[in-house]
Amino acid sequence: MTVKEHIAGMLQQKLPTLDLDTILSMLEIPPEKEMGDYAFPCFRLAKEMRKAPALIAKDTAEALAGEQLLESVQAVGPYVNMRVNKAAVVQIVTEEYAAGHPFGSSDEGEGKTIVLDYSSINIAKPFHVGHLRSTAIGNAIHKLYRYLGYKTVRVNHLGDYGTQFGKLVVAYRKWGNKEEIEQKGIRGLLDIYVRFHKEAEQDPSLDDEARSTFTALENGDEEIREIWKWFVDISLKEVSKVYDLLDVQFDYYLGESFYMDKTDAVVKELQEKGLLEESEGAMIVDLSDCDMPPALVLKKDGSTLYTTRDLAAAIYRKKTYDFYKCLYVTGSEQSLHFSQFFKILEKMGYSWSKGLVHVPFGLMSLETGKMSTRNGQVVFLQDLLDEAIEKTRRIIEEKNPNLKDIDQVATQVGVGAVVFNDLFNSRIKDEVFAWDKVLNFDGETGPYVQYTFARASSILRKAGVDVFHPEDMKGECLSDEYAQEVLRIIEQFPEKVKEAADRYEPYVITRYAVALASAFNRFYHENAILSAEDETVRKARTALTKMMAEVLRSALSLIGVQTPEEM
Ligand code: ARG
Repeated sequence: MTVKEHIAGMLQQKLPTLDLDTILSMLEIPPEKEMGDYAFPCFRLAKEMRKAPALIAKDTAEALAGEQLLESVQAVGPYVNMRVNKAAVVQIVTEEYAAGHPFGSSDEGEGKTIVLDYSSINIAKPFHVGHLRSTAIGNAIHKLYRYLGYKTVRVNHLGDYGTQFGKLVVAYRKWGNKEEIEQKGIRGLLDIYVRFHKEAEQDPSLDDEARSTFTALENGDEEIREIWKWFVDISLKEVSKVYDLLDVQFDYYLGESFYMDKTDAVVKELQEKGLLEESEGAMIVDLSDCDMPPALVLKKDGSTLYTTRDLAAAIYRKKTYDFYKCLYVTGSEQSLHFSQFFKILEKMGYSWSKGLVHVPFGLMSLETGKMSTRNGQVVFLQDLLDEAIEKTRRIIEEKNPNLKDIDQVATQVGVGAVVFNDLFNSRIKDEVFAWDKVLNFDGETGPYVQYTFARASSILRKAGVDVFHPEDMKGECLSDEYAQEVLRIIEQFPEKVKEAADRYEPYVITRYAVALASAFNRFYHENAILSAEDETVRKARTALTKMMAEVLRSALSLIGVQTPEEM
């Protein structure tokens, strides 16, 4: 039970006509600290109790006098203002914390599966900053739901299918060189892709050739398939390095091509259910009754589209994983696509389509401007991460030249900084990536929070503490306002985890980590920890440090940011 729940319980005994949830929802935090920790407004009770609100407040305050949990209680007009006993706060938070396995986790998701479609990069195209967002957000949502007891299935819905593969095959046959591409990887593929677009401007017949090459691939042409498979392998080998750096894993890599033999059945079903219409030779599903443009399901030449494959994929996932929810993490520019295909499934009579959720995010651009694959102006994520690691290494070398494992720490902090920055604001916001903001060790950044963790770890090392001892949390030693603030924030962790998961918003945790780190740093600056003269005080403060460090580590781990012990 939280402190607030204890207060509500106490109030309920005095006001038996109200239920606990009502009291909980009525309890307020006063605008000014001087007024108390909690305020209970009595206006709403006047009618039912046939008493003036101020009188109810006065009587309730009198009835609460002498409660152990309260340091003071006072009626001020229609409010009951309460100040909580500081030692009781220490005890309550300690109990709650010790009961968590781990703290903030729960089993609310038991028996429920969540499929997460994220990262879902496009083969033969650079893994760029946009896909980092999907990767970081999806990974965090996976960790949050798993923490809440859900089973998660992580799917990388690779973009390994479509006419661009026809273009690539044509380009490779015309200008490609096997060794060069082996060596240059995705960059080599990008080179020939860019060349294709340049040449096709002069010679539009190249586009026709690309289309027919793709059709041949769809029809199972062995030789083309070999080349395509090779493109996929080259790309996967290269992106796996980025996934390793980010410490991100998937349960399945099931690209769009996986659904190649499953789309016919979907088209047939749409036809049978009377949902398919012909329009200028192509097949569409009319969605005008839902104020949406029609969805294209088959092109004039009979080939499938992104939507067709997504329909097949959703049906496959429901059959295979029997999900409770299936989340798609992509840029907000795809919102219409998702609304359309969710609607089509609903029209097909699949009530489970209610469980499909698009989790959109805004654009991350670099200071140099937006990127486009066609003209080759793109920043590879690998380069961005390498630069982050290098810049971090230089900062650490200056601050802490004797640090061992400097390579590993620079990687953890450099990559952590980029991920943290990505998850700092509500995902829907557009962002501009700026190095001085991302790597500022004193700002609201990953390095700042990681540094706080390292500072706490160093205190704990020196104190020889490696497990949390609840009995050390002596109330009278942790009643100063700084310790109390740390405890107040620690107590919020479970509700923050829940909120972040419910809203699919990892930034709730990112912000939480900053708040906890700042509160701890104030505590650290205002109080002697290791040099506290009294042993009980020293032990209490180190125990609080341990508790804080564990919660901070859990929070960072939920957003996919690592916690080096030294930096
Ligand atoms: N590959 C797509 C892209 O890069 C994202 C795929 C998202 N998942 C899906 N099932 N449509 O934009």
